[in-house]
Amino acid sequence: MKLYSGNKKSTLKTRSFRADIQYTQYLEEYVMKRILVTGSYGQIGTELVGALRSKYGGQNVVATGRKDPPEILTKDGPYLHLDVLDVDQLHAILKDNEIDIVIHNASVLSGKGEKNPQLAYRTNIQGSYNVLEAVRILGLDQVFIPSSIAAFGPSTPKENTPNEVIMRPTTAYGVSKVFIELWGEYYAKRYGVDFRSLRYPGIISSEAPPGGGTTDYAVEIFYEALKTQKYTSFLEKGTYLPMMFMDDCIKCTMDLIHADVSKLKHRSFNITAMSFAPEEIAAEIKKYIPQFEMSYKPDFRQQIAESWPATIDDSAAREEWGWKPDYDLAAMTKAMIERLSKKLDIAYQ
Ligand code: SER
Repeated sequence: MKLYSGNKKSTLKTRSFRADIQYTQYLEEYVMKRILVTGSYGQIGTELVGALRSKYGGQNVVATGRKDPPEILTKDGPYLHLDVLDVDQLHAILKDNEIDIVIHNASVLSGKGEKNPQLAYRTNIQGSYNVLEAVRILGLDQVFIPSSIAAFGPSTPKENTPNEVIMRPTTAYGVSKVFIELWGEYYAKRYGVDFRSLRYPGIISSEAPPGGGTTDYAVEIFYEALKTQKYTSFLEKGTYLPMMFMDDCIKCTMDLIHADVSKLKHRSFNITAMSFAPEEIAAEIKKYIPQFEMSYKPDFRQQIAESWPATIDDSAAREEWGWKPDYDLAAMTKAMIERLSKKLDIAYQ
């Protein structure tokens, strides 16, 4: 039986009769960590908060962001307004809510970052610096900040890209992700901050839409296939990118957060589940919606996609903490069509 701990301190007090060893095991197993998630209304945050609340208890997962939250973030736990550029507010919220782990998801993605690099700098670099500093100063247990395939660049080997390799990104978003990885790893070495990161590929999901990325086409295509049976891809045929279904994204994030730190040789990990080009996902969708038609009109995001790897080697994640994805292209497409048709109330057969 899992105990729900709304207040960590009172739970600790009531359990102090236990013998030391049992008590330590008890703490490890039952006392819930308190987690704060920034950018919680984003594509990943929305579903990650739900998964974390199921595991840790609603009150132990504080969702935060700069916007008014959707109901999904307020029904099972707290939502607080937080701008990570406001250092005083950030420290106060972390202290007042007795936070142990910060998951810093707030980020300006690749496409939006090219339209406004200064915004990407403030949100991604300044914001992440503030979060890492707060974790260091307050002595919190752990900080997870996502990186991305965007951390790679045109001079990175494109196929089976290794975990350690040349990284010279050419987007504002990519530069910010390299900063996050290096500054986080530096804080781990210099100050013992337990920083962890995953280089997410394109994430495909049916709940909240992605906001301004280059891999967004692989989500938009499902909405348009169901609604209009047509889609114009902003990436050209033959543009292979690493991708992952949301359920696997939640799984790898939770797995890395829970991984035994003594077994980790890296702090930033390549992670992937599949790679495909636009015509391949279109062909898979056609199996469910035979009348679906795809056309191609590449825009500025084509150049961004071409600067990223086509396939990723995630063997470090597999070896160090047992990563294994559940969804390939076929399984992801089936799940997306089923979930999205239900959500949009559209019959596809
Ligand atoms: N999905 C992101 C983007 O396209 C990549 O991490 O910007």
